[in-house]
Amino acid sequence: MKQFDRKVAIVTGGAQGIGGASARKLALNGANVIIADIDEEASKKNVENIQSSGGSATFLKTDVSKSPDIKNMIDFTYEKFNRIDILVQNAFPVISGASRVYGDAVSVKEEDWDYGISVLAKAIYLGTKHVVPIMKKNDGGSIVNMASVHSILQEPGMLVYEAGKAAVVGMTRQMAIEYGPYGIRVNAIAPGHIVSEGLKKVWDKNPSGLKFFENQYPVRRTGIPDDIANGVNFLCSQEASFITGHTLAIDGGLTIQLQEQFGLRQGRYVLDNPDTNMFGPSAEEK
Ligand SMILES: NC(=O)c1ccc[n+]([C@@H]2O[C@H](COP(=O)([O-])OP(=O)(O)OC[C@H]3O[C@@H](n4cnc5c(N)ncnc54)[C@H](O)[C@@H]3O)[C@@H](O)[C@H]2O)c1
Repeated sequence: MKQFDRKVAIVTGGAQGIGGASARKLALNGANVIIADIDEEASKKNVENIQSSGGSATFLKTDVSKSPDIKNMIDFTYEKFNRIDILVQNAFPVISGASRVYGDAVSVKEEDWDYGISVLAKAIYLGTKHVVPIMKKNDGGSIVNMASVHSILQEPGMLVYEAGKAAVVGMTRQMAIEYGPYGIRVNAIAPGHIVSEGLKKVWDKNPSGLKFFENQYPVRRTGIPDDIANGVNFLCSQEASFITGHTLAIDGGLTIQLQEQFGLRQGRYVLDNPDTNMFGPSAEEK
């Protein structure tokens, strides 16, 4: 008997990257997975990947910036399986559209604020709104919201992302309090830099930059999608049944290190490796 046999899971942004790995992990452990994503081609590849390993997956074209799509995602899944146990709210176009929301309060266009907040924050409110009545009928469930180290630490030029990701942590805590009595646990994960399929293509053009970037991390590496999928799997499992409202940092220690020591270490690294191209993926490259 597998951990999630007979369970039904929805993963938004489940075609690739963190969501892709999470969909594969939950399916490997027995869940029937709905991949709710805008990218049809990548989603179908992930569905095939899961099915060829003996798992169950279905693609549903979904744009989480659109309210009717989110309602349809929940209705479709409930009609198909008559239950929903897990909702992983992860979609955001790190590779294909993050640059649209870059900027500060002065420079960000109002329509880009609205778009960014709709995907980063409003989608999580709407997904929860529609899934909770169904999870209540099942006697519970687990919701995992994708936050970020940007929920905790701030960067110039990232107003919309930081605001949206901070909201993820706040909503997660509020929802955990609200729905705990119904057996519904709500947690978040705050990943550090995760080299998804898309980010790998960018870093492959700048290997010395990746090494410099990795040196920032106490564990001296950046993450891979499976690092986060393992956290998603754990938070959805029975082993986490007393954990709710928590934001789990999976960041190789990035957010707990003293900044002065970090600056010295990076300075020494560049002195020792003078050919380093220090600049990480730019907005344009993403
Ligand atoms: N990669 C990182 O370093 C990192 C770090 C911290 C947090 N995160 C968060 O993790 C999540 C996934 O990031 P990733 O790196 O795997 O991204 P990615 O770009 O590799 O994959 C995102 C997926 O979401 C889908 N998507 C984009 N917009 C959508 C929409 N409107 N509706 C439905 N699907 C949509 C894309 O098609 C894609 O399949 C995001 O919430 C991101 O903010 C990523």
